[in-house]
Amino acid sequence: MAYVMGIDVGTTGTRAVIVSEDGRVVGSATGDHVPMSMPRPGWAEQDPEDWWKATQEAVPAALQDSGLRGADISAVGLSGQMHGVVLLDEENRVLRPSLIWCDQRSQEQCDWITEKVGAQRLIELTSNPALTGFSAPKLLWVRDHQPEIFQRAAHFLLPKDYIRFRLTGQFATEVSDASGTLLLDVRNRRWSKQVCSILGVDTILLPKVYESVEVTGGISRQVADRMGLSPDTPVVGGGGDQAASAIGNGIVVPGLTSITLGTSGVLFAHTDAPRVDPRGRIHTFCHAVPGKWHVMGVTQGAGLSLRWFRDQLATQEVAQAAKENREVYELIIRQAESVGAGSEGLLWFPYLMGERTPHLDASARGAWFGLTASHTRAHLIRAILEGVAFSLRDSLEIFRELEVPITQVRLSGGGSRNPFWRQVQADIYGQELVTLRTSEGSAYGAALLAAAGSGMFSSVEEACRRTIEVREKTAPRPTERAAYDRYYDVYRSFYPTVKGHSHRLAELSRGGS
Ligand code: XUL
Repeated sequence: MAYVMGIDVGTTGTRAVIVSEDGRVVGSATGDHVPMSMPRPGWAEQDPEDWWKATQEAVPAALQDSGLRGADISAVGLSGQMHGVVLLDEENRVLRPSLIWCDQRSQEQCDWITEKVGAQRLIELTSNPALTGFSAPKLLWVRDHQPEIFQRAAHFLLPKDYIRFRLTGQFATEVSDASGTLLLDVRNRRWSKQVCSILGVDTILLPKVYESVEVTGGISRQVADRMGLSPDTPVVGGGGDQAASAIGNGIVVPGLTSITLGTSGVLFAHTDAPRVDPRGRIHTFCHAVPGKWHVMGVTQGAGLSLRWFRDQLATQEVAQAAKENREVYELIIRQAESVGAGSEGLLWFPYLMGERTPHLDASARGAWFGLTASHTRAHLIRAILEGVAFSLRDSLEIFRELEVPITQVRLSGGGSRNPFWRQVQADIYGQELVTLRTSEGSAYGAALLAAAGSGMFSSVEEACRRTIEVREKTAPRPTERAAYDRYYDVYRSFYPTVKGHSHRLAELSRGGS
């Protein structure tokens, strides 16, 4: 039996999984990250060294969990949180904490990029508009606010590619993650020299771009000795966490769609050619399948909404979970079951880190709206579960409007595990949801890319065909679905009516007057 390893550098931890050629996960482990630092509202940073520390914990622990030796692993695939900016100096030292995917500080740089390149031209060149979520605006924020650091930068890497550098010594990335930088010519799958030159980004800073299944280097001897892997084990390109998760969900043909509900929530569909939303509300990126593309809509604060509730308002459940050795989210979510669809008129807007789809608005702010004295804690929780799903429905409606075919929706990530939240989602999307045998998401997809790249399978499509199995289906219930349709109408039209106030609050919180 042959085995491959996937390593996913997530937001809350780095996970390593070992997958056998028949698709079983035979070992796994996670190294936790220090929680992201949020020094100001809308700012989010992590220390790349912390990801590396977590990788060094996760990889040997996964090997130990599997009972395999390093020599049994044929190849490694990487995936990771997208859009983060890691800057290294000439001696390959990290210059500052990484501005990560949900950092929202770069609106000024986005406006500058749009003005400099031209909104239409930017979409022609990169297939996407300038958004605070993407890397280039973050890079330019460093240029504008910390020029002494920017001048010393010799390399720009994405989070998983920093881990690749530590594993192999190579400066490399691949097309799916590079798509989220706003520096890639997504249509032609190479860095856009034009955009780089207009923005003044020296292409010398950029890593070499590969397809996701190509081998980018081998595990260095020093790392091999330390982690228990074999020297020269090939490391393939891998994918941004969303593309990798889609591979793990088998989203490799048109019609198949996935929702990955982690810290962020993402609706993802495979496309055979680049499909661009003229209004830029969804992203058009290269897929991890060579020569294919995808579209995706992003909710910034999906699982993050529930985690925020846990950390700020659920001390009681956290203590009970610790005492009874139970899963805290299960204790929180089960309270919502006593409330009806629509939380008796209470809506949650999950804009805790601004919002991408559909508002493209870094200054969007979250809220419960509709509170009355009769609402209870259970209503607050249920409204969060529903609000996150309403927000993902916004993406679904845009896919429907653009006629992106949707034959099946596969659900994965932390938010797919709880049956009650799954049901709420099926009712709100009005769509049957499918879960798979393996819900390892991105790390599993990264392992499948390693399997395809190392010749274990002839292609990514074959890797998916041979390993992925449907486990469960959740159908929407007609009564709840109809009730949610009415609530969604209110949800959808609410934010535009308070946008001005939201911006004013954001400005005041930044110290404006
Ligand atoms: C995708 C995105 C997030 C991050 C973190 O565009 O920003 O999914 O990759 O998971």
